[in-house]
Amino acid sequence: MRAGRAGGGTRPALRGLLALLAASALLALAIQSFPGAGPCDGPRGWPRPARRPPPALLEELSRRQRDLLRLATSGGAPRGGGLGCEDLSRLSGVGVVGSGFTKLVLRAALPGAGAIALKSVHRAGRDVSRCVQRYGHPAGCRRLAGYKLLKEVTLLQRLDHPGVVKLHGQCYDNSLDPEIRVIAMLELGSPLEMIQLLQTPWEERFKICLSLVKLLFYLAHSPLGSIVLLDFQPRQFVMVDGNLKVTDMDDASTEELSCKKDNDCTLDFPAKSFVLKCTAAGKCEGLNEKKNLFNAYRYFFMYLLPHTAPSALRPFLSDILNATGDLRYGINETLGAFEKVLDLYKSGLYLQKRLPLLKEYISLKGFRTMEMQDYKCWPSYSHLGCLLSVHNAEEAAAICNSQPQCQSFIVTQQRTWTGRPLALFRSSLTDLIPDVNAVVYMKRSAASRERL
Ligand SMILES: Nc1ncnc2c1ncn2[C@@H]1O[C@H](COP(=O)(O)OP(=O)(O)OP(=O)(O)O)[C@@H](O)[C@H]1O
Ligand SMILES: *[C@@H]1O[C@H](CO)[C@@H](O)[C@H](O)[C@H]1NC(C)=O
Ligand SMILES: *[C@@H]1O[C@H](CO)[C@@H](O)[C@H](O)[C@H]1NC(C)=O
Repeated sequence: MRAGRAGGGTRPALRGLLALLAASALLALAIQSFPGAGPCDGPRGWPRPARRPPPALLEELSRRQRDLLRLATSGGAPRGGGLGCEDLSRLSGVGVVGSGFTKLVLRAALPGAGAIALKSVHRAGRDVSRCVQRYGHPAGCRRLAGYKLLKEVTLLQRLDHPGVVKLHGQCYDNSLDPEIRVIAMLELGSPLEMIQLLQTPWEERFKICLSLVKLLFYLAHSPLGSIVLLDFQPRQFVMVDGNLKVTDMDDASTEELSCKKDNDCTLDFPAKSFVLKCTAAGKCEGLNEKKNLFNAYRYFFMYLLPHTAPSALRPFLSDILNATGDLRYGINETLGAFEKVLDLYKSGLYLQKRLPLLKEYISLKGFRTMEMQDYKCWPSYSHLGCLLSVHNAEEAAAICNSQPQCQSFIVTQQRTWTGRPLALFRSSLTDLIPDVNAVVYMKRSAASRERL
């Protein structure tokens, strides 16, 4: 099979990349651990006779190929991304960013395009080595894994959403029969660090959950039908500019399970199982969508949503957790519920009625405080001091009142993703500098002490 922009004439460019790749320790290891698995010829330079893969492997290969063809012809207009094999020779600064069972991911700089990610088959990964153990045919096994990556590329070419990693291009080479070499060029992200996320402000964690919900909504109504991520875990996602994106799509499926009765539509999870409806058309209704949603609940919402949420929003969040955890909501209702929480948060309606506290502060118009080291608070947006997202000066006054060190604050021009300003809380009243656009709020009690 020959597809995409690539052709046999691009092999010198590919060799260029392979030479670059070989510089990375991991890839060198990958090649070494498979004697005779070097590019084209054996590592010592003699050509290796191609041996036909055993029948069972051929069977798997043709199943994967059919699966791929069905996907490639199932609608949705493919977008290639502008890059192809010829761009590989322009890459520099190649380094490893990650690897999984099937794929190896490198980063590289491309003049004009910045840093990109390159995905290829992980020749020493578990997927290939298991297959080799079973079938004893390394090249055929690499082809099998190559189909997985091709499937991912085929999906990425047809999906267009901010929550799906962007495909910049691809390079295929099938002149190494039976192997096909595939390199996918993608938007570069950074791995999702759950532990680190737990230490970020609630607003940022809510953003991640909301982007995930928007992604699942898109997948449920995608041009290819309802897509399920069969292997749904935080490590299938990366962060790009603070946005969550799915990067691992080789284990996605667009097929809904066929059934005769409801019991055929059982969704099994380690601690729970659900029985869905079997429709008259003989398909499990909404199974793909619900599987994604429950996984979102158990891997993301449960950890990221409730922790340090504004107290007035907690009942709404508990409802989302309960409804997704019991699969009472579909993705449409879940998105609706998330958007409602976002509106409440943005409008400040979540703020409980408080005494007006701002009148306990003197406002100094035309001044701001200098950016310098001061006391810390959690979860600050700055490591230098206490910088928090607020609805307005009134909420900032309430926060300042609750912190013994706080003597003054300013509401800065910086905004969070929801459009809320960041307020900087300070323990001193000195270090004022003129700024026509700013106002410093100072505790009256502190200001009078200062005058003494
Ligand atoms: N676009 C990207 N930018 C940065 N890092 C990435 C990107 N895509 C993937 N990675 C990293 O590489 C790892 C492996 O990628 P990927 O999940 O696609 O491979 P895999 O072999 O299918 O993995 P798994 O064994 O989890 O199924 C990811 O866990 C992630 O940390
Ligand atoms: C949802 O709430 C009901 C009623 O309080 C409770 O029985 C159920 O266990 C909850 N489910 C989840 C997933 O929290
Ligand atoms: C969910 O929303 C989509 C897109 O707006 C719509 O096509 C679909 O019918 C809705 N599904 C349900 C169950 O409401």
